[in-house]
Amino acid sequence: MDKIVVEGGNRLVGKIPISGAKNAALPILCAALLPTGASTFKNVPQLADVKTMAKLLRMLGWTVEGEKTTYTIAPPTGKKKPKLEAPYDLVKTMRASVLVLGPLVARYGRARVSLPGGCAIGARPIDQHLKGLQALGAKVTLDHGYVEVEAKRLRGATIVLDMPTVTGCENLMMAAVLAKGRTVIENAAREPEIEELATVLNKMGARIQGAGSPMMTIEGVDELLPIEHSIMPDRIEAGTFAVAAAMTRGDVLLEGARPEHLEAVIAKLRACGVTVAAESGGMRVRGGGDINAVDIVTQPHPGFPTDMQAQFMVLACMAKGQSVIKEMIFENRYMHVPELGRMGADIVIDGRTAIVRGGPKLTGAAVMATDLRASASLILAGLVASGKTEVLRVYHLDRGYEAIEKKLRAVGAKIKRAKQ
Ligand code: EPU
Repeated sequence: MDKIVVEGGNRLVGKIPISGAKNAALPILCAALLPTGASTFKNVPQLADVKTMAKLLRMLGWTVEGEKTTYTIAPPTGKKKPKLEAPYDLVKTMRASVLVLGPLVARYGRARVSLPGGCAIGARPIDQHLKGLQALGAKVTLDHGYVEVEAKRLRGATIVLDMPTVTGCENLMMAAVLAKGRTVIENAAREPEIEELATVLNKMGARIQGAGSPMMTIEGVDELLPIEHSIMPDRIEAGTFAVAAAMTRGDVLLEGARPEHLEAVIAKLRACGVTVAAESGGMRVRGGGDINAVDIVTQPHPGFPTDMQAQFMVLACMAKGQSVIKEMIFENRYMHVPELGRMGADIVIDGRTAIVRGGPKLTGAAVMATDLRASASLILAGLVASGKTEVLRVYHLDRGYEAIEKKLRAVGAKIKRAKQ
C-alpha cells in the first residue's frame, strides 16, 4: 500500500488543472444503463471509484471501454442478457454502487443491489431511495442483505423527500425518466451534480425541469438515446486546492474551476482574508496576510458543503482566534480531528460541533487517513506543518483525488508517494 509524504513550508504558486467531478461522473456512468446504444463521456476523472463503477457496469453486462479520461459504455447486444445485480463485494467498497438501482428497474423492470451498510462518516441509510421507488410503483423487498426492486413499468408520482439526499435524488431521477407519466420530486437536492445529471438525461431525450431547485418535474418518456458528454469540473477538488493555496499564502490559478459552484466556499475563504477572483479559464486564489477565524455550518447545497468541512478545519487551525464548525450532514465526520491533534491542532468536539482554537504551529507526524476528505485535510496540514508528515492508508485519497501529489508538486509542494 502507498503513503503520501509531505515536507511542510513551501508556498504554492502556479496553475492546477481541475479534473472531472467524481460525484458527477459516478451517477452519469450509471445513466449510461438507460439509452439504447453506446454513450461516450469525456473528462472522466481517473479515480479508484470510477474504476470500481466501470467494473460494476461490466459485471452487469455492459461494455466499458475507457482510455484515460474518455469512456464509451454500450449495452449488452444479441443474446447477451444483462445481469441485474450489484454484489456486496462491490457495494461495500463504494456506496455509490446503489445508483444502478434506479436505471436498472426503470429499463429492465428489476434490480437486486446489496444494501450498503454504514460507513466511516455515518450510518447513511438509503430509505429515501427506496421510499421514492415505492412511490413510483415498485415492489421493494429486503432479502439476505440485498434489496430487490421490481416493477413492470414505473408510474409517475409525487415524492416528498424527508431530506434533500443527493444520490437518492439521482436514483429517482434515473428511475422516473422512463416511468409512465409525470413525477414530481419535492425537497430535491440542489447540488450542481444534480443539474449535471439532468443535463445528461435531457440530452438523452428525458424531460426534466427544475433540476437545481427544490422541486423537479420529470415527464416520463418511452426510450432514451445514446449521447456524448463532457463531465463538469470537480468543485470539491477545486475547493481543496483553494484551501491549499490560502494556507501556504500562495497564488494559484485553478484551471477549469467554476466559481458559481463554489459560492459558499468562496464566501468563507474571503471571510478568512483570502483573495478569490474569477478569471477567464478558472478561479485564482491568493493567500497573504493573517487568516481570520471563521464559523461554518455544513448544509445541503447551496449551503457550505460537508465535503469541504475537514479542509476548512485545517485552515481554521492556522487562524488567529477560535472558529466554530458544525457538521450537520453526517453524524461522524470528525475522524480527522484526533489525527490533526497528533499534529498539534487544538480542537474540541462536542456532538456535532467542533471548536478550533487556531494558533499552535502544526508539526509533521505519521497520521492515518480515515475517509476521502479527511485524507485531503491531512495532506493540507502537512503542507504547512514543520518537518515531515506521512499520510497512511492513502487508498481513501485515490478514490476521489486524481494525482493529487503530482498536481501539488507542480505548484511547488514537497510531496511524494512512497511504499507504506
Ligand atoms: N440520508 C438518509 N436516508 C437516505 C439518504 C440519505 O437518511 O435515504 C441522510 C444521510 O445519512 C445524510 C444525509 O441524508 O445524513 C445526506 O446524505 P446524501 O444522501 O445527500 O449523501 P450521499 O448521496 O450518500 C453524496 C456524495 C457525498 C457527499 C454527500 C453530501 C456522491 C457519490 N456522494 O452522498 O460525497 O458528502 O452527497 O453532499 O455523490 C465524498 O465525495 O467524499 C462524499 C462523501
